[in-house]
Amino acid sequence: MTDHDPLRSLPRERLMKGPTPIQRLARLEEVLGERSRGVSIWAKRDDLMELGGGGNKVRKLEFLIGQAKAEGCDTLVVTGGVQSNFARLAAAACARTGLACELVLAQMVPRNTEIYQANGNVLLDRLFGARIHILNPGEDAAGFAALRVAEIGETGRKAFMAPLGGSTTVGCLGYVDCAFELARQSTEIGVTFDQIVIPNGSGGMHAGLAAGLVIAGSHPSRIAAHTVLSPAEKCLTATAEKIDAVLKFLSIDARVAPADLRISEAQLGEGYGMPTSSMIEAVELLARSEGLLVDPVYGGKAFAGLLSDIESGAIAPQSNVLFIMTGGSPGLYAYADVLTAK
Ligand SMILES: Cc1ncc(COP(=O)(O)O)c(C=O)c1O
Repeated sequence: MTDHDPLRSLPRERLMKGPTPIQRLARLEEVLGERSRGVSIWAKRDDLMELGGGGNKVRKLEFLIGQAKAEGCDTLVVTGGVQSNFARLAAAACARTGLACELVLAQMVPRNTEIYQANGNVLLDRLFGARIHILNPGEDAAGFAALRVAEIGETGRKAFMAPLGGSTTVGCLGYVDCAFELARQSTEIGVTFDQIVIPNGSGGMHAGLAAGLVIAGSHPSRIAAHTVLSPAEKCLTATAEKIDAVLKFLSIDARVAPADLRISEAQLGEGYGMPTSSMIEAVELLARSEGLLVDPVYGGKAFAGLLSDIESGAIAPQSNVLFIMTGGSPGLYAYADVLTAK
């Protein structure tokens, strides 16, 4: 990797201190026994951050809030699902940086329980002082948010629109930075990760990480993503487009095709936010072997994918695999009915 950091001169609001730790999940390997097939399982703790309970969206928000402030905005208008982790972390980041925050939360998951509608991330959104608009099923979140941006503008203030998952080109830069961080840590600990396992929701994390790997001289096929939102084909195309946009934005002369990416839809189940039995088993296994929490919508499904790929040999025996823990544990409270059912 070159010493030139293409992110250095971009507007950025620092929300986290230093690299997130990488740790070996030795006790999980022990519990898996022969089922681990000699794979060394590592976790990068992007759930361990100083702000708002932590999570992958903090990285994106550093650049999004940097851009919002550079454009003279005083308010963030965020769209997401009711239990959006991005919305929660945006609310926390706004509290930290002195911006007003409005969350436009859509019914993306058919779950009408009171805990889903009011606990977990929604409870924290309120604590962080965001103004919350919970839409009815079928209401257009992007349209509602655009209207709020216009209305805020009429009062003399200026709003910045942060769409689903914060996965704009600028939002993706947070994970370009993570790829550089990972390359440095890999050298420091002397471990090359053969595979990096992540969830893919709105695709920004995957896109940023893949672009960062390319810039650092590595290949995006090292990332094994598990889609939790769109079918694999759609997810591949959308993610490759985002990677191209990021590389162009940073004036990097390289392109990535959908065929260079690995996205599995094996863990999607009945769709976004819909629990699966393998997700529940994965959440419980990590909690009971390591005392670590992954969320039911993203990390739980991606971790289930990692376990299944070890079993099938898609993750080669004796290799090093890195699971990026993306935060989102507040979502567990919104799924208490499912997680305590057995
Ligand atoms: C906890 C968690 N993990 C992973 C993701 C996926 O990130 P992306 O939407 O950039 O694909 C999200 C997105 O909301 C998330 O909240």
